[in-house]
Amino acid sequence: MSTGTSGAYWAEQALPSVFKHSLLGRYIPQFGGMTGSRDGRVVYLDGYAGEGRYESGEAGSAEIAMRVASKHLSRHGLRWTCFFTERERKSVTRLEEIAAIYRGQGVDVRVHHGEVDQVLDEVLRTAAGLPLFLFLDPCGLGLPWHRLTQAMALRRTANRRPTEFLMNFSMVAVRRLGGNARSAKGVERSSERFDEVCGGRWWRDFFPAGKEPAPDADEAVAAEYARRLAAATGMLVRSVPVAKAPHHKPVYHLVYGTWRQHGLWVFGDAAARARDAWWEKLEVVEEQGDPDVLFSTASLIRPDPEVVAKAAVPAMAQNMERLLRCGRPVKLVDHTLEVFGDYYGQVTEVAARAAIKHLHHQGKTPSTGVSRNREKIRDLVVEPPRR
Ligand SMILES: C[S@@+](CC[C@H](N)C(=O)[O-])C[C@H]1O[C@@H](n2cnc3c(N)ncnc32)[C@H](O)[C@@H]1O
Repeated sequence: MSTGTSGAYWAEQALPSVFKHSLLGRYIPQFGGMTGSRDGRVVYLDGYAGEGRYESGEAGSAEIAMRVASKHLSRHGLRWTCFFTERERKSVTRLEEIAAIYRGQGVDVRVHHGEVDQVLDEVLRTAAGLPLFLFLDPCGLGLPWHRLTQAMALRRTANRRPTEFLMNFSMVAVRRLGGNARSAKGVERSSERFDEVCGGRWWRDFFPAGKEPAPDADEAVAAEYARRLAAATGMLVRSVPVAKAPHHKPVYHLVYGTWRQHGLWVFGDAAARARDAWWEKLEVVEEQGDPDVLFSTASLIRPDPEVVAKAAVPAMAQNMERLLRCGRPVKLVDHTLEVFGDYYGQVTEVAARAAIKHLHHQGKTPSTGVSRNREKIRDLVVEPPRR
């Protein structure tokens, strides 16, 4: 299983990375803002950092975090300690050049040439008592299950300071290793390496020897991985598929974990916005590929955001109505997944406000969806109908 990047990887941002970086760039500033105010500090680890910046000049994950750190420092006095690990010498050299720019702006950037596993303990020590965000984005298989779950258990028992992760779970690897596990000529050591990542052999059941696996066996493995991670860490875990093109199988899932309902809310909103960025980039790529084409395929098949929102609003209003059956007021952020239902990560938080208005027009809540004290949408409270 290859875990390095090919030569072309750092030329320019590929489509899946547009989604990944858009999501990361939208989410982590909010993580810092929401969790860092108490101590004025945040600890961040990008465990598979790569070069930091593409040859095209676009920011990679490492520079995205450094930019956020620099902005938070200058605007809010919030200090980020950013750890980056990268095992390829060439990439580290480039990453150090980018890091030097941000150190010059006062950001605490620590680059480690080597394996993420070697720095995880130091990161956890540094983050004792402070909020911690882990971004784990390998090209192939990531951290062994026991390393990840032990780190989360330590954070949970030590002080329960905000801790979150965003992790690349390779669907390409799942499909390849599924084939490997089913085959009589499969390499057992490769399957064992995936056992270590998954915390057991359970994934092999989705790829039985001598039988065709279910068409969605890969998705079933990703869903079960997320379910097990939630059970093992006590975290709220959501996983978002990322593909190279519409109707293609995802190349990976981004698996997000948090203990905070607020995080879940903001993450879903960021994922919906990142999805838009993905579609927009696809249109640009297609137009660049064929400037004479009248309409790009992307523009023809892209679900119209307005149509999606129109379908989402009544569905979400119904979800809220169901929540109100308890007869008590419902604060949106305390019920993120119930409020969004199937539209979680598909529509932005604006749809939640529209859903309250929809319910109000139907006479099912006295709440209007208007923020009276400029509260954020997620903090809106929906009142049950008056009897
Ligand atoms: C997908 S690339 C990272 C892309 C980067 N996160 C971004 O979004 O801009 C994965 C990187 O992880 C590095 N890598 C692979 N295994 C590693 C390990 N065990 N520890 C640290 N780095 C590793 C590879 O050399 C490669 O540069």
